[in-house]
Amino acid sequence: MLKRGSKSKAWHGFQNHRLPVLVTCLVLIPLFLILLFFNNSKKTHSSLGFTVQKWNSFDSMQLRPTIEFRNATDVIWQIPDSAKAVIFLAHGCNGRAVNFWDRSPSCPNCVGLPEERLLVLHALVHKFAVLTISSMGRCWTFGEEMLIVKNIIRWWLWRNKLEKLPLVALGASSGGYFVSALATSLRFSSIIIMIAEGIFDQMDVTENYPPTLFVHMPKDLYRQQKISEFIEVLKNKGIDVAEVECLEFPLSPFFLADRIPGLNQTVSAKLFKLFGDKGFIDRKGYMMKDGRATHWKEALHETKEIVLDKNLVQHVQEELNLAFAYHEMTSLQSEQFFKWFESHMK
Ligand SMILES: *[C@@H]1O[C@H](CO)[C@@H](O)[C@H](O)[C@H]1NC(C)=O
Ligand SMILES: *[C@@H]1O[C@H](CO)[C@@H](O)[C@H](O)[C@H]1NC(C)=O
Repeated sequence: MLKRGSKSKAWHGFQNHRLPVLVTCLVLIPLFLILLFFNNSKKTHSSLGFTVQKWNSFDSMQLRPTIEFRNATDVIWQIPDSAKAVIFLAHGCNGRAVNFWDRSPSCPNCVGLPEERLLVLHALVHKFAVLTISSMGRCWTFGEEMLIVKNIIRWWLWRNKLEKLPLVALGASSGGYFVSALATSLRFSSIIIMIAEGIFDQMDVTENYPPTLFVHMPKDLYRQQKISEFIEVLKNKGIDVAEVECLEFPLSPFFLADRIPGLNQTVSAKLFKLFGDKGFIDRKGYMMKDGRATHWKEALHETKEIVLDKNLVQHVQEELNLAFAYHEMTSLQSEQFFKWFESHMK
């Protein structure tokens, strides 16, 4: 704070330089406003506790995964220089390991879904080696598949000489149930269970169970109740447990372009307008329904004005589900995720 004396001095200074200050303000204020509107690389939804990261926020980090076929499934990974930890990422039903990685010469069949790829990028930037595996069927199962995946992870750690590093896991939906179970047979330093309550009513959890962060969307009331229940169960066993709530947020004209590689601002703004015209979003830009229940693909088909690469339909769908915040993979709160992992590495 300025002291009284220095305040009046500053005031005199201001009077002497009134014109230049005024001119500077007249130039700077519009400039500031322009920057505010056009530099949307880091839009903060401060009330929601996250920053909307642009898809290319990690320009220096390239996704160059290695792919191997083992035990009849895809194993795809990337190890950053001087890795300090390892993360196993488990997709949800209908997911695949290829969804986490951008299409590239090293992975021609990769899909690079917006949330999945950003999770991987956040992990690599935080110096986590990233391991993704596809489930054998549509969703993860809890019999032999548990053993197979455990063995793949162990073999992979051994082969890459990463056994000594802390191992963490993040699973979404079906992957969340799977990770909750896997944590009883593999030693994770902590885990994240996303949009799932875990199978804590079907297994015996001891005090050795890893610290568990539930990342969930409270709009899904049934899951929210289950999660509150299981948080109490885990707390009562002395396990470190916490939760991150993910709330709905409004779409904006460039949101899809910000999040999806290969979808430009023109297409993004046209889609936003279409959603508004069709009543898929309200006046503030909030989704009226879950993306899956919104007939946006039909509406897109009817209009001849928007050319959306058909490979990007899944990507748009994911972001619409995310904005509605009922059930979707999210990378928006990644800083909180990695804070959780990093604070439980000993
Ligand atoms: C997985 O594959 C490895 C290498 O081919 C094999 O040795 C191992 O027995 C397989 N594990 C299972 C559970 O099938
Ligand atoms: C945006 O993408 C669409 C569809 O791929 C394309 O037709 C259009 O020319 C692009 N616009 C700009 C400004 O790049």
